Amino acid sequence: MCGIVGYTGRKTAAPIIVNGLKKLEYRGYDSFGIATLGSGIEVCKHAGRISDNARSALHLNGTTGIGHTRWATHGAPNDANAHPHTDCKNRVAIVHNGIIENYADLKRQLIARGHRFLSETDTEVIAHLIEESYTGSLLSAVQQAVPVLQGSFALLVISPEEQGIIAARNASPLVIGMGDGEYFAASDMTPVVEYTERTIFLEDGDIASLSPDKLVIYHGKEPVNRPVELVDWSVEDTKKGGFAHYMLKEIYEQPQAFYNAIRALDTENLPGCAQKPASVAIVACGSSYHAGLIFKYLLEETCGIPARIEFASEFKYFPPPVSCLVVGITQSGETADTLTALKRAKSHNCPTIAITNVLGSTVSRIADSTIFMRAGPEISVAATKSFVAQLGVLMQMINLLSGEQFTKVLAHAHRAIEEVLLQDLSCAVLTCKQARSIFYVGRGPFYPVALEGALKMKEISYIHAEGYAAGELKHGPFALLSSETPVIAICMPDDTYGVMVANIKEIKARGAPVIALGIEGDSELADIVDIFIPLKRTHRFVQVLTSLVVLQLLAYYTAVALDRDVDKPRNLAKSVTIE
Ligand code: G6P
Repeated sequence: MCGIVGYTGRKTAAPIIVNGLKKLEYRGYDSFGIATLGSGIEVCKHAGRISDNARSALHLNGTTGIGHTRWATHGAPNDANAHPHTDCKNRVAIVHNGIIENYADLKRQLIARGHRFLSETDTEVIAHLIEESYTGSLLSAVQQAVPVLQGSFALLVISPEEQGIIAARNASPLVIGMGDGEYFAASDMTPVVEYTERTIFLEDGDIASLSPDKLVIYHGKEPVNRPVELVDWSVEDTKKGGFAHYMLKEIYEQPQAFYNAIRALDTENLPGCAQKPASVAIVACGSSYHAGLIFKYLLEETCGIPARIEFASEFKYFPPPVSCLVVGITQSGETADTLTALKRAKSHNCPTIAITNVLGSTVSRIADSTIFMRAGPEISVAATKSFVAQLGVLMQMINLLSGEQFTKVLAHAHRAIEEVLLQDLSCAVLTCKQARSIFYVGRGPFYPVALEGALKMKEISYIHAEGYAAGELKHGPFALLSSETPVIAICMPDDTYGVMVANIKEIKARGAPVIALGIEGDSELADIVDIFIPLKRTHRFVQVLTSLVVLQLLAYYTAVALDRDVDKPRNLAKSVTIE
């Protein structure tokens, strides 16, 4: 996915767009570009990150402009493929987030009609299509070009012949910010909250015309009204606030995120379909999948409701779900595989619920009901507070389904999360940063905690890390154990304790150093492992949270010790809008 931002008003556009693109870099950061309406279309675009090259774009003139930060799909991340793209006559410049699926056909036809292409992107066809239908009205040219496009797009288009921006949306997010004598357009609210809290989320098929004094939204050719929504994210939420990285700030925001998330749901607003489901299917990707797996374990053991979980990308390869509740978990609300899985569930008449962090995101238009977890903006690519907030919503759902057995536990959980933030992990970091490979093991709900711990470690430290159900390690991975492959074991005082301790002894016997997370005072465990990380004895749900937070911090401090680019790990983007 990519990030786009546009501004039209009375201020110089370039600094506002540069600022906005920096906030959207979590969506992709291999190249960037800006076009403004100065003397004609002025363009600055480069491979690399806007945050390292902001100065190069600040000289652009004009009070209207558009910008893009890219996560390459069609064509390498170089200067030519960076957006904005222009037409043959430099009459239009466009930025695009999404994929044009029929671009190869369109490109062939456009070349046959004499157009010259300068990039390998799918996006450039849009500039040439608009050029062909541009006879004096940019709005009408975009209205003619858009129906030809197949795929997903959020587009911003400018022309030196008009003051303003034309924005179009189909299956990619696009938010309009309404200022005083100025309008903003962006992939999400983060670049906008600094200037206004009044936003409009465009719908699929909408085309908006923005000029400094006027906003008109069309659906096809008809003008339509869309509701203005007040966004409660503050500008402080989008800043580092004295922390070295967004990731650390977001880890520290987790007590509040959990506290808010459990309040996102109560008996009043628990969607009808979730009140007594006979069975549940969960679909999600990445960290959200791990949150779903924890939910599956806890839901089955506390409520006895059978639950299955699938990677959203694999959901289509199984027989269609039959009359079960399908829960889609996606912090961004835009992950293509999760959206497709939910659409499939709907086409089989399954009731659907989405759990997301982003107001106005696409998933909320697909699912029958949406629960917003209210974690606030998460800028670091690695999911942390959105993950804990997902667990907040899911644990609250279990609480409500179980006749509110856990209300007290959940109400105090944020304090336990807060305490664990100060855990000393220096010895564990020292061991991990020298490792070539790290295994994480747990049982029951601590198995998905292990998966998530390993995912955090690999994505930000680049050390190979694998999560395993503790019982599975002996079926293959044992061959890899050595003094250079530490094993991190989550060993809690439940009915898996005995077998976990036995597994740890087997691991030790193969020469691998063991770092164990256990309950403070557990000298039996502390004596057999190399590094013991003590956690307070609390409720099982809370232990899932605290052990998880320790593993996030371990990954963070290890990545910092290795001097990694923690907030923007290589090759990744925060949510992936292609299947
Ligand atoms: C990407 C991100 C992960 C995230 C996953 C699913 O891979 O890097 O952090 O967990 O997408 O994203 P979603 O928005 O659906 O939760």
